[in-house]
Amino acid sequence: MEDQAERLREMMRKKNSRDKPAVLAEHKKTRIITITSGKGGVGKTNVSVNMALAYARIGRKVVVMDADLGLANVNVMLNMIPKFNLYHVIRKQKTMREIMVDTDYGISIVAGASGFSKIANLSEEERQNFINELETLSNADIIIIDTAAGVSSNVLDFIAAADDAVIITTPEPTAITDAYGIIKIIASEIDSLNMGLKLVVNRVKSVAEAKKVADRMTSITGQFLNLKVEYLGFIYDDTVVSQAVLRQRPFMVIDPKCRASLCIQHIVGRMEKSELPESGGFGKMVKRLFGRNDR
Ligand SMILES: Nc1ncnc2c1ncn2[C@@H]1O[C@H](COP(=O)(O)OP(=O)(O)OP(=O)(O)O)[C@@H](O)[C@H]1O
Ligand SMILES: [Mg+2]
Repeated sequence: MEDQAERLREMMRKKNSRDKPAVLAEHKKTRIITITSGKGGVGKTNVSVNMALAYARIGRKVVVMDADLGLANVNVMLNMIPKFNLYHVIRKQKTMREIMVDTDYGISIVAGASGFSKIANLSEEERQNFINELETLSNADIIIIDTAAGVSSNVLDFIAAADDAVIITTPEPTAITDAYGIIKIIASEIDSLNMGLKLVVNRVKSVAEAKKVADRMTSITGQFLNLKVEYLGFIYDDTVVSQAVLRQRPFMVIDPKCRASLCIQHIVGRMEKSELPESGGFGKMVKRLFGRNDR
């Protein structure tokens, strides 16, 4: 009897998956992921760009946004220099479509403007125009925002607006301490923290080393901040990464089967398994970025 019920369920599952393509059915909402860290140079830009490529490989439409124009990290990593950035959109000199650069790798990039604080000074009409322009991004399945290290108010704005904040650390004690520091600030500065806080341990030598770092971090954030930080995964220290950086091409492109690439794909697989909150998505981003009272 039970066998039959199971067979029936299986048939239904197959029927459903035929009727609606998984990509369309499950990804109507845009997922906004901010990549951040306490200490600089721990791998945020590499993770942002290569996660975007791993998402593109499984058919997602991805936009990578460089949150800090001053550093222009993503652009350097991809060897493309966009002429225009979000500031031109805010100033109504360009549309979002015009500043977005399509890359050869199936992902698009948008250069940010340093600081959304200027938004506060916009007239209502300019603000509305900017929100309408931002709406263009809601065509994407995934928006990955690469931030600068540490906690400028700009970074906090993006984290507050996102569905997931991925915190990157390496096993270095200073990186771990700084990662804890930023998690603490996120917890205290952002009210109604309804997002997934996730940890990636980069540049590890072994699975055990990564797990040790993650266990330490999740236990201290749980104990002292009463906060759940999910261990999303690790990335091996891999010479392909530094070679890729030198060649200004993503390591997922140089060698999709290298250790770092496999780790990134695993991380994206884990992300895909964690659900986007009901209240999340593009609407939340706009509300959080513009309705500053929410914070
Ligand atoms: N998994 C890895 N294996 C080997 N080297 C790595 C790895 N991840 C990062 N690196 C090295 O660390 C450098 C810094 O990486 P990346 O630019 O992604 O860091 P970042 O956190 O974005 O830095 P910043 O804070 O300056 O923006 C890279 O140029 C690369 O050489
Ligand atoms: Mg960077």
